[in-house]
Formats: sequence, C-alpha cells, structure tokens
Amino acid sequence: MSFVFQTTRSVLCEPGSSARIGELAAGLGCRKVAFITDRTVLELGLAAAALNGLKAAGIEVWVCAEVQPDPPESILLAAVEEAKRQGVDGVVSVGGGSSMDTAKLVAVLTRAEQPLSQMYGVGLVTGERLPLILAPTTAGTGSEVTPISIITIGENDKKGVVSPQLLPDWAVLDAELTMGLPRAVTAATGIDAMVHAIEAYTTKLKKNPVSDCLAREALRLLAGNIRTACFEPGNVEARSNMLLGSMLAGMAFANAPCAAVHALAYPLGGFFHVPHGLSNALVLPFVLDYNMPVAETLYDEIAPIIFPGKRGADLPGAFVALREELGMPTTLREVGISHNHLPMMVENAMTQTRLLVNNPREMTPEAALDVYEKAL
Ligand SMILES: NC(=O)c1ccc[n+]([C@@H]2O[C@H](COP(=O)([O-])OP(=O)(O)OC[C@H]3O[C@@H](n4cnc5c(N)ncnc54)[C@H](O)[C@@H]3O)[C@@H](O)[C@H]2O)c1
Ligand SMILES: [Fe+2]
Repeated sequence: MSFVFQTTRSVLCEPGSSARIGELAAGLGCRKVAFITDRTVLELGLAAAALNGLKAAGIEVWVCAEVQPDPPESILLAAVEEAKRQGVDGVVSVGGGSSMDTAKLVAVLTRAEQPLSQMYGVGLVTGERLPLILAPTTAGTGSEVTPISIITIGENDKKGVVSPQLLPDWAVLDAELTMGLPRAVTAATGIDAMVHAIEAYTTKLKKNPVSDCLAREALRLLAGNIRTACFEPGNVEARSNMLLGSMLAGMAFANAPCAAVHALAYPLGGFFHVPHGLSNALVLPFVLDYNMPVAETLYDEIAPIIFPGKRGADLPGAFVALREELGMPTTLREVGISHNHLPMMVENAMTQTRLLVNNPREMTPEAALDVYEKAL
C-alpha cells in the first residue's frame, strides 16, 4: 500500500464559530486581512459575526465582496492588486466555493512573485502564502479542506490550480451560515458534495483507505440529511450534518481526485453559467451508467449507504429520482443547452485531463457525447 494524505491543519466545527475568526486570525499574527466574499453573502449578514470578531480582535479589514460564481480570473487579479496596495498580511473568506477559491489564490498571489498563468495545473505553485482562514456558507465544495482553486479564464474556460499551499490554516465550519441557503442551492451543493465522495471512492489512481473512510461517512451524512436540509431549512442538525459531510467529502477528493462527472460538468458552468452542483447533477446518472461495467463492485459498496436497500446498478436511476424529489432541473434543455452546443461541450470537457485521468473507465469523446445526449 502506498499513498499520501494531506488536509487542512486545523478545523473548528461549532454553530456560531465564525465569530471566533478574529481570535484565530490574531493567533496567526494577522494585523490587517483581506476579507473575500460576495455581495449576497454580505447583504444577507452572513459575514457580520466574522467581521465583528475581527474588529474585536483589533484586526483591520479590507472587504472585497466582488466575487461572482465560477470566479473570473479578472476579479481575482484585481483583488490581488488591491490587497497588495492595502498591505494585508492575511486572508479570510466567508462564502461559497467561489469566494473561498478566490481567497486561496489571493493569499498566494499577494505574497508570491510567480505569475498566476504559471500556477494552473498540479503542484506548480512555488511560493508561500499569507495566513488563510476559510468558512464555507454552502455545504458543498469542501474547498476549505482542498488544495484546489477553480478559476474561470476569459469567458468560459475553467482551470484549476492544485497545490498544497492552497490548504488554509483553519477551516471554520459554522452551520449557522448555511441556515438560509435557498432550497435550489442546498440541493445543488449537496449533490456536488455527494459527487465528490462518489468520485473519490471510485477514482482510478489515488484511491486510498483514508479517503475511502471519509467518502463513506460523507455519503452517510449527506444522503441522510439532504432531504431534511431542503425541506426543513431551519433544521440545525441537518444543516450541521450537511456541512460536516461536505467537508469530509472534500478531504476525500483532495487526496483521491474527482473524475469524469466533474470534467463533463465544467462546460455547463463555463459556457452556460449553470451552478456547479447542478451541472454535476445533470450529467451524474449517465456517467455512472458509463462507468458501471468497470466500477460496479465499488458502486455496490456505496449504493446502500446512499440509498438503503439499493445496489450499484440502481444508482443512476436512484439519482434521477432524487433530483426530481429535490425539485432540481433534470435536463440540459431546461438550462438552455441544445443539441448543437454538444460538440463544443465535448471538446471543452476533453481538455480536463487533470480530472479525466482519474475516471475508472476511459472517457472518450464519443462516450462524452453520448452522456450529453442522454442528459439533454
Ligand atoms: N476548490 C475546490 O475544491 C472546489 C470543489 C468543488 C467546486 N469548486 C468551485 O466552487 C464554485 C461553486 O461554489 P458553491 O457551489 O459553493 O457556490 P458559489 O460560491 O458560487 O455560490 C453560489 C451562490 O450561492 C450564494 N450563497 C452562498 N452562500 C449562501 C448562503 N448561505 N445563503 C444564501 N446564498 C448563498 C452565493 O452568493 C452565490 O450567488 C465553482 O466555481 C466550483 O468550480 C471548488
Ligand atoms: Fe465539485
């Protein structure tokens, strides 16, 4: 057996814990931090406890609330310029995956001399970063425990920076931040987290026993709570379990990387701005179908955890039913995609080699087109 497992050094998990971010930042020696978030999160007041805590700890704050979903490179670079001008010595993010991914690279680029263009890929970041604290407001990406940042270049090209420097000093799991998540976002981000666990469990090259444990427990928590979180949004226990599940899934796929579901989902986000989790949900059943001949044994191991009494072969159909139960769009057409978009989506998906190498069954352009046609 041979594997490497890395994760975020420290995790604080407690409802209300974002109020303690100031204390944590002070512990890292910060005096002035860049606070990276988006307008919605700021306007909903989700950043208030963290901002008050920072103030109480005597830490100055420069707030950047410009982040947009599928975060554009231009916004990241503008934030870095301003962070340098402001002289920040730390970075905090309270937000979804888009804000946290932006914050990770602000922390690296504000300190490092290396240009961003040389960082896209795996293990290419050379310098160190500023102190970094991440608090997710979606239960979701698991970005708070992954060494990954996904940035959109130009109009529609999603690229990843993957390097251990992107793991933060602290992941702060405060379920209160997720209480107001609308049902559509709860469902989509919850499915994203489930896909992280499934793809980690079946990943071809780096599957390992630690990720396997995390993926199974993540699926138990996520599958057991996604319906309650969607239909009883104020249920703290369900929200806490979703947040914990998404973090465990993040720890799993950070070390046993995602594969074809994510690769085929990316063009939906890049070209059509379909939310990341929904993009995954739309292609998931058909990628599971495609992988079935080689991954069925592994699917048999996780299917009963996700859908009690089901087998691997039942997974695609069970996910189709779950999407409907959660009220999610179920076809590519519903999100504005038509048949003549498919060749360009295939072309783009096939460039996601970082992900495709991990798929248990080789994903060919023909197979990708077939997945999209079935998802249409
Ligand atoms: N770094 C990683 O390891 C990793 C993993 C998976 C996905 N991603 C990336 O993360 C991004 C998706 O992140 P996401 O799914 O968390 O969504 P997001 O950050 O893009 O946010 C989606 C929307 O939800 C809103 N929102 C966030 N929290 C809210 C809350 N508590 N209440 C109400 N509204 C809220 C946001 O304002 C935004 O409008 C994509 O760019 C994806 O590629 C990164
Ligand atoms: Fe994802």
